[in-house]
Amino acid sequence: MAGPLACRRKGPLRGAVTVPGDKSISHRALILGALASGETRIGGILEAGDVRSTRRAVVGLGAAVRDEGAEVVVTPPPRLAEPGDVIDCGNSGTSLRLLAGVLAGVPGLAVLTGDASLRSRPVRRVVDPLRRMGATLSARDGDRLPPLVVRGGALRGTRHALEVASAQVKSAILLAGLAAEGETSVEEPARSRDHTERMLAGMGVPVRVDGARVTVAPGRLRGGRVDVPGDVSSAAFFLCAAAGVPGSEVTVRGLGTNPTRTGLLDVLEAMGAGVSLSGQAEMAGEPRADVTVRSGELRAAEIRGSLVPRLIDELPVVMVLATQARGRTVIRDARELRVKESDRLAAMGETLAAAGARIELFDDGCAIEGPTRLRGVPVRTRLDHRIAMSMAVAQLFTDGEEVALDDVACVATSFPSFFDVLDSLCVRPA
Ligand code: S3P
Repeated sequence: MAGPLACRRKGPLRGAVTVPGDKSISHRALILGALASGETRIGGILEAGDVRSTRRAVVGLGAAVRDEGAEVVVTPPPRLAEPGDVIDCGNSGTSLRLLAGVLAGVPGLAVLTGDASLRSRPVRRVVDPLRRMGATLSARDGDRLPPLVVRGGALRGTRHALEVASAQVKSAILLAGLAAEGETSVEEPARSRDHTERMLAGMGVPVRVDGARVTVAPGRLRGGRVDVPGDVSSAAFFLCAAAGVPGSEVTVRGLGTNPTRTGLLDVLEAMGAGVSLSGQAEMAGEPRADVTVRSGELRAAEIRGSLVPRLIDELPVVMVLATQARGRTVIRDARELRVKESDRLAAMGETLAAAGARIELFDDGCAIEGPTRLRGVPVRTRLDHRIAMSMAVAQLFTDGEEVALDDVACVATSFPSFFDVLDSLCVRPA
């Protein structure tokens, strides 16, 4: 689906759905599979633009990737090769940053680029640490922006202290560490998602975790099986809608519940929604459960500090939900939102204000006073899937008014069936 789309749905939302596979875990399964010594079989991989970018990239580095029934099978080459062409990561920051870490240890030259959104996102955060490990990198605009050029070679293990919690940067460093001499460690100001650490350990390379510091020694992964749970960042749109539209109850089955990703569930509960988990299981080192959210009388929340990395991608839709909660919701320590697929604070701030929300923006967050009935608005989606999906949820908090998204092609980067799943949960007006 591409081009403009007018949203006009009505709640309540009721039903049980599944959502596509976790995007972060899907990228890692392809990349770690390409680095392994044997085949990796991936079940439940996300079929969407961002992960396809990573799939194309690892094929460009010499891995063979094939579909086999419902599984994707990665056969690694004996060693990754210098790519024959520029690697186009599309809209995907995770592809670009994780691959930069891998390529730092691959002899030869590689150029990583992407779409207009990705080419406006910072890369110095990976350039600096990978340089310290011995790789040669340069990027546009004084090493700030893609395209990013990596000349890989011999690396030395190094200790890194990150200024911002970032799983992409942490993972890039850990992946470079696999090819380095000696141990590599990364310390973050707060813990970010730990899928890389879990998958490395599951594929036979031990990772030491000590608070917010992670250490890896060089090693070759062995292939394995990865079963990708549902993506909590995709489920977030339905869970937030269910929390805020009276009379709603939505279950998302088989959802990833890694504690570094479940900040949203904590916030929904604190705001007064009903949240319950059943059928808990663990597969390939990642926990999952069926998660049910029921609507409640919502109250404002305070979101800051170490909670922020646990729900960073969910904050746009949390901002939407905050317009429906009684009191002043405050989000701080979320400056990173300004360097996602768009400047999400500016995008959501301007759009929600136009829809009638009472919102004050800060450099690192916002305050939202609720509850407010929203109005239908035109929305510029800015090549940012989460802005499009968040505003489709905002439409449910209008009195049947229309929210007109200018271009929904971006939704296909993470959740091509989003509007169908939303339809299946909603009552459409006659
Ligand atoms: C991701 C990490 C986060 C997140 C992104 C996916 C990952 O980015 O926003 O959508 O898979 O590692 P940062 O590492 O930049 O915080």
